[in-house]
Amino acid sequence: MSVPAGQSAATPKRLVVLISGRGSNLGALIEACEQDRIPAQVVGVISNRPDAAGLGFAEQHHIPHRVLNHRDYPSREAFDADLATAIEDYAPDLVILAGFMRILTPGFVDRFTGRMLNIHPSLLPKYRGLDTHARALADGEPEHGASVHFVTPELDGGPVIMQARVPVDPNDTPDTLAARVQQAEHRLYPEAVRRVCSGEIQWSGRILQADGSPLEAPLQLDEDTHDVSGPDARSRPPHPVG
Ligand code: GRF
Repeated sequence: MSVPAGQSAATPKRLVVLISGRGSNLGALIEACEQDRIPAQVVGVISNRPDAAGLGFAEQHHIPHRVLNHRDYPSREAFDADLATAIEDYAPDLVILAGFMRILTPGFVDRFTGRMLNIHPSLLPKYRGLDTHARALADGEPEHGASVHFVTPELDGGPVIMQARVPVDPNDTPDTLAARVQQAEHRLYPEAVRRVCSGEIQWSGRILQADGSPLEAPLQLDEDTHDVSGPDARSRPPHPVG
């Protein structure tokens, strides 16, 4: 079959990234796309806060971006309806939540099922919600980390694709631990997005699949080889995340 003029056989996937603040994960994703580590490009950035520092990354890299201030809306439903329209305007293949500090309505989430990812700073299912670093330290956890998951209506509850584990140092404070987890996030998120963009990882709302087989446990950054169908990755018992 011939490839339409202006398109290569491997047309980059279109990513829309939603942010609320610093945007360091957005920066890591932009860099990974520009360095061809992900077969994708960031085609739009949307912030719900006008003062989000991460908007600067979009400006620097000449990526279309816009602010949709949730304070301008009378209800969560009204905001989410306009947000969905703004996202669809960019015709994305994937919607990437990167520090987007909003609880999403079920209708919004359903609209993007299987094509919306989030990164959360804990080894899910542990420590859903906020203050994950302080809670992990208070519990004396030997390790902490970050997880990338598909988004479902349940907060931080969707199927986890991949995790990065970070050892806890006895002298850690929530801030020092958060800084190391963030460094790991900047490698984790591009790698997880790469696997979804390439079609290796798929979820249509029922079974999370890696190369066509059920993914029994989250992939682990720096542990699982790039060949997820390889015998090592598959024969390993589930990671102790619970
Ligand atoms: C990250 O720690 C991410 O895990 C959480 O929000 C933070 C966003 O950081 N969801 P940044 O805005 O990407 O720097």
